[in-house]
Amino acid sequence: MSAVTSTPPSRGKVTIQTLNSKKSRGEPITFLTAYDFPTAVALDRAGIDGILVGDSLGMVVLGYENTLPVTMQDMLHHCRAVARGVSRAHLVGDLPFMSYQVSTADALRNAGTLIQKGGMDAVKLEGGRERANAVKAIVAAGIPVMGHLGLTPQSVHQLSGWKVQAKSTEDARRVVGDALILEDAGCYALVLEAIPSEVAQLISQRLRIPTIGIGAGMGCDGQILVTHDVLGLFDRFTPSFVKKYADLFSEMERAFREYIADVKEHRFPAAEHANTMDPQALLELVRTINLLDRELEPDEKVDTQYQ
Ligand code: KIV
Repeated sequence: MSAVTSTPPSRGKVTIQTLNSKKSRGEPITFLTAYDFPTAVALDRAGIDGILVGDSLGMVVLGYENTLPVTMQDMLHHCRAVARGVSRAHLVGDLPFMSYQVSTADALRNAGTLIQKGGMDAVKLEGGRERANAVKAIVAAGIPVMGHLGLTPQSVHQLSGWKVQAKSTEDARRVVGDALILEDAGCYALVLEAIPSEVAQLISQRLRIPTIGIGAGMGCDGQILVTHDVLGLFDRFTPSFVKKYADLFSEMERAFREYIADVKEHRFPAAEHANTMDPQALLELVRTINLLDRELEPDEKVDTQYQ
């Protein structure tokens, strides 16, 4: 059993200070992704610490092969929906591919947009030392930045696919160096994705800021997963590091099949699903229609079963 006692769920907003306190107490930080209002409401009610509106939405919601086609407009649309459902959790909006790589000015403007128009508390961007200037500029404007190291999906082609990173001493040393540089540049937290647990633990011990792991083992200060993987809502593939807590895709398909069969077999709608009219009002309606009918076409009469 852990020596750490967990704090009771607080009603107050989760802030960067809350996350830092959790790290210093050794209390695991919980993050999941959300892209829509109902998921955001459920996560907030369940007591999650942080919600990432990840550009993974490109794959699990919009059906793209990877995250590269996701735009600022896509992100803004989903950030707004999530923000409307959350009162407590810390909210992070992902900066999509090409929204921060071209220039520091772009990075700052787009980060500002996710905060100002998207309702986010912080932004996340991918990459190491090459992002230090962008991070510094965004932080200087008062916007918290979460870094993202290891398997960075926006570099999927450069990395030759979805592979575990930092396995060699040299690669791992570079990731550790990147983590220190991003902390110095002003990042308030780092996502560590698909790197060996040992490397993630070393980084987490070296940094003052919290690390949030995904496929990076138990040594991180917190964990994040893509909610669609957790719920079994994404049927294309499930990464090996995911723990599935439900199989909602199968459940959804079962419900749809049942609905289709019910409609076809006249089991739905049943009497309890229908709206009815006051019998007297209905009688008057039928009489009126018959009257109109007689005026227009004297030979024809509508159904008189209600008279
Ligand atoms: O886009 C995303 O959901 C992410 C998480 C996998 C960390 O970046």
